[in-house]
Amino acid sequence: MATLRRAGDPALVTDPAVIAEVLATLEVTLETLPVPTHEQTLSLLAAPELDTADQARLLEALDGVFQRLQAEKGYQERDLVVLYPGHPQLEALNTRFHRIHTHDDEEVRYVVDGEGIFGFVLPDGSQVELTVLAGDYIHVPAHVEHWFRLNQRQRIKAVRYFSARGGWTPLYTDRPLQDFVCP
Ligand SMILES: [Fe+2]
Repeated sequence: MATLRRAGDPALVTDPAVIAEVLATLEVTLETLPVPTHEQTLSLLAAPELDTADQARLLEALDGVFQRLQAEKGYQERDLVVLYPGHPQLEALNTRFHRIHTHDDEEVRYVVDGEGIFGFVLPDGSQVELTVLAGDYIHVPAHVEHWFRLNQRQRIKAVRYFSARGGWTPLYTDRPLQDFVCP
């Protein structure tokens, strides 16, 4: 279940209704979609690193969600992000996405293993960080100021759903990040 922190405030917000209310100010939505628990899927999720064939197997196991999204929202493609400690691009990805940015397209992710942190700039200019975990499906509309980073575990597997490939370039807003107190 996702949790939220406000910049400068060590309190951890765990109430889903409060979190949904904060996210609603940006029209960001968060749903819980239980991750399939078949034996093969569990063993793929347990491995920190997956080769191309295993990534394709995992995507296939999760395609019930993709088919529903294709029918309901018209998403055309999906791929899998697999990050783990020692991943060769960890630092480059962090540099690219741990900066406040927007996209011309929506950002849609279904976390199936590990965890990650989405940060948002709220309409009043304050900032929050939302930790998403396995089973969290998040939809960030186009043009919302946000960032993404990993926590100290440095491990996540997430499916990204696309309606258009080109809309994913990060457009940096150059707004500074506020400080987050993480006990
Ligand atoms: Fe982004």
